[in-house]
Amino acid sequence: MFFRCELVIVIVGLTLDGQVRTGEIVGGHEAVAHSRPYMVLLDQHAEDGKKKYCGGFLLNEDFVMTAAHCKAWSSYVLLGLHNYHNRTGVQRVRVKQTFLHEDYNAVTYENDIMLLKLSTKAIFNENVKPIALADQGDGSVPKSCTVSGWGRTNRIIESLSLILMEVNVTLNDSDQCNKDKTYCSKGDNGPAKGDSGGPLVCEDGKAYGVVSSRKLDSDDLEIYSYAKIPHYRSWIESKMKPQRKPYIW
Ligand SMILES: *[C@@H]1O[C@H](CO)[C@@H](O)[C@H](O)[C@H]1NC(C)=O
Ligand SMILES: *[C@@H]1O[C@H](CO)[C@@H](O)[C@H](O)[C@H]1NC(C)=O
Ligand SMILES: *[C@@H]1O[C@H](CO)[C@@H](O)[C@H](O)[C@H]1NC(C)=O
Repeated sequence: MFFRCELVIVIVGLTLDGQVRTGEIVGGHEAVAHSRPYMVLLDQHAEDGKKKYCGGFLLNEDFVMTAAHCKAWSSYVLLGLHNYHNRTGVQRVRVKQTFLHEDYNAVTYENDIMLLKLSTKAIFNENVKPIALADQGDGSVPKSCTVSGWGRTNRIIESLSLILMEVNVTLNDSDQCNKDKTYCSKGDNGPAKGDSGGPLVCEDGKAYGVVSSRKLDSDDLEIYSYAKIPHYRSWIESKMKPQRKPYIW
């Protein structure tokens, strides 16, 4: 049986301009607890003090990847979380530095990718582990992928889903997708608003994309876009490289 359930992580302060909206999960089910130990919930505040939640994923003990439109005024990451109300073993770490993509466009959501540097190192264990990124490869598009995130399960009440949800998506190399910089999936099943910043994980278990936005195509089908990680590999590596301290004689 198929049921449609919509997950929305509320991104307060974001203007939805009708053409491009931020993603939400549709058609999801609960993830097995801690089966995705790289998943991160960004617990943030906007400048006006309002809560602003997004997803993200752990790359190593110092860095989390998310979407640029998730940028907030103050950010903490929750690592090892499954149920929002159960903080047993959860690491809450302050974000020390953000690396927003220099060419991020807040209108078109182009280059919607950002790195967060943690103020203290993540401690790896069964529930907290990094995910590998897809490399440039041969440019082929993976087919079967999964998106996960915390978000509301009800269209009316704007509150978080208390548990991590996931949904399978099939990537579609459609003409209405910016193929250089994004992967796209189509149809009823997909990330919905609030899975923004979470990972698109494909067959080999690597992260291929960052949940970014959605829009309607000419046939009124939802097209979900994901920032294409292989395209951004050199940008990512340049930001994650340890900063050399100048020598002082
Ligand atoms: C809380 O989370 C821990 C770690 O995942 C788990 O072992 C425990 O059973 C959970 N407690 C409840 C009440 O669900
Ligand atoms: C989602 O995809 C995985 C891997 O391809 C598969 O094992 C699983 O059965 C799929 N789940 C659903 C609900 O389609
Ligand atoms: C992509 O979407 C179009 C319809 O919008 C469909 O005809 C085509 O089969 C899809 N391609 C894949 C690979 O799913």
